[in-house]
Amino acid sequence: MHFIPEELDNYVVAHSENEPELLQQLTRETYQKILQPRMLSGHYQGRILSIISKLVNPKNILEIGTYTGYSALCLAEGMQKNGELHTIDINEELVDFQRKYFDKSNYGSQIKQHLGNALDIIPKLEVNFDLVFIDADKVNYSNYFNVIIDKLNPGGIILSDNVLWSGKVLDTTFKKDDISTPELIKYNALLKEDSRVETVLLPIRDGLTISRKV
Ligand SMILES: C[S@@+](CC[C@H](N)C(=O)[O-])C[C@H]1O[C@@H](n2cnc3c(N)ncnc32)[C@H](O)[C@@H]1O
Repeated sequence: MHFIPEELDNYVVAHSENEPELLQQLTRETYQKILQPRMLSGHYQGRILSIISKLVNPKNILEIGTYTGYSALCLAEGMQKNGELHTIDINEELVDFQRKYFDKSNYGSQIKQHLGNALDIIPKLEVNFDLVFIDADKVNYSNYFNVIIDKLNPGGIILSDNVLWSGKVLDTTFKKDDISTPELIKYNALLKEDSRVETVLLPIRDGLTISRKV
């Protein structure tokens, strides 16, 4: 989705950091071998995740929705040397692909993969986080917020992806079988109203919200 004219969008990307070579390789292989490659964060959003992570300089990071590992590697760029990035995905077919790229990076030993339903795994993680990226099934966004908020350190950041859902959050006439749109509308309201976080929704790509625990 383009919020600004495509030409200007191209200008924005051209004047942002280049995409690291490893992530270009990962993108090529994802498009060659994996279903739904458009799920990957990609060059521009990846550089945003990287620079936010460098600003936060988190010890521990949680990612919900690994897919082929693109965003995990971007977030890892800002992680402290003794930190860990825990990333969760329910699709076991992606595990070896993720590990191959994690091990090619400088962060392989710091990235812990978890396979399964994030709502089952998060309560078992005995770690507090400074940075969380929510990018899995949209119907569970509010549930994810509720299970992570007490594991987020004060000043910690939650990044939530796809919060504009291609603009469908404005549509109050969504189809009966569309369970994601009403949940995202509910989630965006929750972030705005919950006094434990301060929130700004950025119209970047499909919408990326930054929430900071006060
Ligand atoms: C949009 S993709 C993640 C993209 C990735 N963050 C990136 O930017 O490269 C969403 C992922 O969430 C995973 N997922 C969906 N439901 C899940 C659940 N309940 N628990 C864990 N992972 C889930 C899917 O298997 C998929 O790989």
